[in-house]
Amino acid sequence: MLKGKKIILGITGSIAAYKAAYLLRLLVKEGAEVQVVITPAGKEFITPVTLSALSGKPVVSEFFAANDGTWHSHVDLGLWADIMLIAPITAATLGKMVTGIADNMLVTTYMSVKCPVFIAPAMDLDMFAHPSTQRNLETLKSYGNHIIEPGSGVLASGLHGKGRMEEPEQIVEVLKDYFSEKKN
Ligand SMILES: Cc1cc2nc3c(=O)[nH]c(=O)nc-3n(C[C@H](O)[C@H](O)[C@H](O)COP(=O)(O)O)c2cc1C
Repeated sequence: MLKGKKIILGITGSIAAYKAAYLLRLLVKEGAEVQVVITPAGKEFITPVTLSALSGKPVVSEFFAANDGTWHSHVDLGLWADIMLIAPITAATLGKMVTGIADNMLVTTYMSVKCPVFIAPAMDLDMFAHPSTQRNLETLKSYGNHIIEPGSGVLASGLHGKGRMEEPEQIVEVLKDYFSEKKN
């Protein structure tokens, strides 16, 4: 179902970013072509080298690629993608997407895509339960974005509650279901 699909995988500064490497691996195994776009904070959690080796493509993070006047085009990326998946997505990025604060490549690309967007939140239980997070998720739903609900369990903080990013295998299933429903 994902064979040949062009996927933008957005990664943000959550501890769950380590799961994004495995998620990327699964998407590539399914035959998808994956372009990683990572926030500056995301790079504190997982290295672009890992992501570039797994995707077979340079990772996009900064607007300006080098000091030679070249830049990354969020518009071209937006036109290229069949689907955009942001996993994990932080509370901060949710807020930026709701209000249109396009101050990094990821949010700028999000605002440029024409394809369906799936987001998989990951955060501590209190951040997830906070009214601002809940309101932002409702707003993003109203924009037509698909929310992949986090699970409950032990969180990286050691606390127990809702906020764990959905497991990579389940996220891949959500995307496969989406494309199979579209086909029928
Ligand atoms: C160790 C550590 C873990 C964090 N984990 C999360 C997280 O799981 N979810 C979240 O919303 N923010 C988390 N944060 C806070 C974000 O990294 C911070 O809000 C950052 O500005 C997010 O930027 P970004 O959304 O542009 O990637 C964490 C911060 C630290 C230091």
